[in-house]
Amino acid sequence: MIKVTVPATTANVGPGFDCLGIALSLYNEIEVEEIEEGLLIEVEGRDQEKIEKNKNNLIYQSMLKTFDKIDRYPKGLRIKQYNNIPLARGLGSSAACIVGGIVAANKLMGNLLSQEEVLELAVEIEGHPDNVAPALLGGVVVSCQDEGKTSYVRFPVHETLKFIVAIPEVELSTKASRGVLPESVPFRDAVKNVGKSSLLVAALMSGELEKIPYALQDCLHQPYRTKLMASLETIFSKAEKLDLNQLFLSGAGPSIIYLSWKQEEERARTFINLVNTMPEQWNIKTLQGDN
Ligand code: HSE
Repeated sequence: MIKVTVPATTANVGPGFDCLGIALSLYNEIEVEEIEEGLLIEVEGRDQEKIEKNKNNLIYQSMLKTFDKIDRYPKGLRIKQYNNIPLARGLGSSAACIVGGIVAANKLMGNLLSQEEVLELAVEIEGHPDNVAPALLGGVVVSCQDEGKTSYVRFPVHETLKFIVAIPEVELSTKASRGVLPESVPFRDAVKNVGKSSLLVAALMSGELEKIPYALQDCLHQPYRTKLMASLETIFSKAEKLDLNQLFLSGAGPSIIYLSWKQEEERARTFINLVNTMPEQWNIKTLQGDN
């Protein structure tokens, strides 16, 4: 029996659209074993009723692509998924299934794929690297995909960083959330994002956390995506007035993350109080980085 644990991830982290991601301390677990014939899929945990238990299951689909790549197949397969990562909330639930499926299939067949090959396959399935890379490697991962190749740098999440994750009861699919992005953006917005995301990565790497509030602002996706849900617009605009600058839309949304560290804990409470004034139910989780 093969067991794989995969973390949730937050992608983009404000200005790092499609290239920056961080692994979080919330995990899905997958058990797989070869059986004599057929496909048995069991799902336990959060959102279990929404997860496919047939050949459309994303873990199975990702395992199948791995078997195709290495051209070896089990006789039959039993998959057990323990799901803790909420679906369609911008916390990397798909990436966790893709990475978990590929890693499990690779282990089952004797680890024929290298870690780089596992990552390439995961990026191919997901379409962008910023969730799958930290789901596979842990920590903070800056990844760049160009002409079918992914290059990355990984480094640990600073130990004092806390991720206050506000998860609304409503789902938002990445497809819908990518659908509202513009074909082009003003040159000044692009320049601003290059500066902010470079500063953010440097601050996360060097531990100069006090630079983070200045670095989280984004012009490429958040302004378009917050229009998809009234509460997102309200939270971001009220937070700006309250000078709460450490928040960003997690991945494609709709969850929001408030980055907190020692001296910021008081302000984190203001963020939680703000979220709790919204009309829908929001679940607040305090997570750490997964290194
Ligand atoms: N970078 C991706 C996006 C992450 O923002 O669409 C969500 O899968």
